[in-house]
Amino acid sequence: MRIVLVGPPGAGKGTQAAFLAKNLSIPHISTGDLFRANISQGTELGKQAKAFMDAGNLVPDEVTIGMAKDRMEQPDAVNGFLLDGFPRNVSQAEALDVALKADEVKLDAVLDLEVPEDEVVKRIAGRRICRKDSAHVFHVSYKQPKQEGVCDVCGGELYQREDDSEDTVRKRLEVYHTQTEPIIDYYRAQGLVRTISALGKVDEVTTRAMDALKRDK
Ligand code: AP5
Ligand code: ZN
Repeated sequence: MRIVLVGPPGAGKGTQAAFLAKNLSIPHISTGDLFRANISQGTELGKQAKAFMDAGNLVPDEVTIGMAKDRMEQPDAVNGFLLDGFPRNVSQAEALDVALKADEVKLDAVLDLEVPEDEVVKRIAGRRICRKDSAHVFHVSYKQPKQEGVCDVCGGELYQREDDSEDTVRKRLEVYHTQTEPIIDYYRAQGLVRTISALGKVDEVTTRAMDALKRDK
């Protein structure tokens, strides 16, 4: 399957993507994680992305689209993928359509996670991620690691993301409403959108998501 996951910052995209990708045997491709890996490795791409991310803005399309396409061309993504955080504006959605068309494949679904803003703020304020792998995500009250400050998966140190400060979160939410939400209408016109509530326990949301993906429309 080829799936796009969309939802505001802190909706639980990364959390759900880990389970969905495993259930569906497809790779989880997160542009946010790719940028963070580049930043921690000190690459040129990471240097270009960092200032935009720290300010809560989108990284320019010239950088993002090429990086996402390179990842989608890896052998593990030939038969499907779960995109998390890409596309994030209409021009990225159009670029993705062009790339898929060139490969004569199509998206199967766009899963839209709905969460009220006050819940998003609580989730982001308590989020802690692993220094070694930003796909290892915890929460100070909702998903506590066994040992405080230490990743259960790999033993890495847990820290708070630089862009999770209150001001930056407000900016990221504004960017989501103005630039990312329009892609939901773009995909609705293609009959691809399945909207679910992302409230409740993590496994309840996963069940809801799997049910929505199995539905015809
Ligand atoms: P990115 O990394 O994509 O961040 P985001 O979209 O803001 O999403 P988040 O990672 O904040 O949240 P999430 O929905 O994954 O939630 P999570 O599962 O962690 O992007 C970061 C930046 O990179 C952007 O601002 C931009 O600068 C740049 N960027 C990335 N892609 C780009 C693109 N395509 N174009 C341009 N720029 C791009 O969950 C949040 C917390 O809640 C966790 O602590 C988790 O444990 C907890 N939680 C999850 N589910 C539940 C639940 N059901 N109940 C209770 N707690 C829960
Ligand atoms: Zn880890």
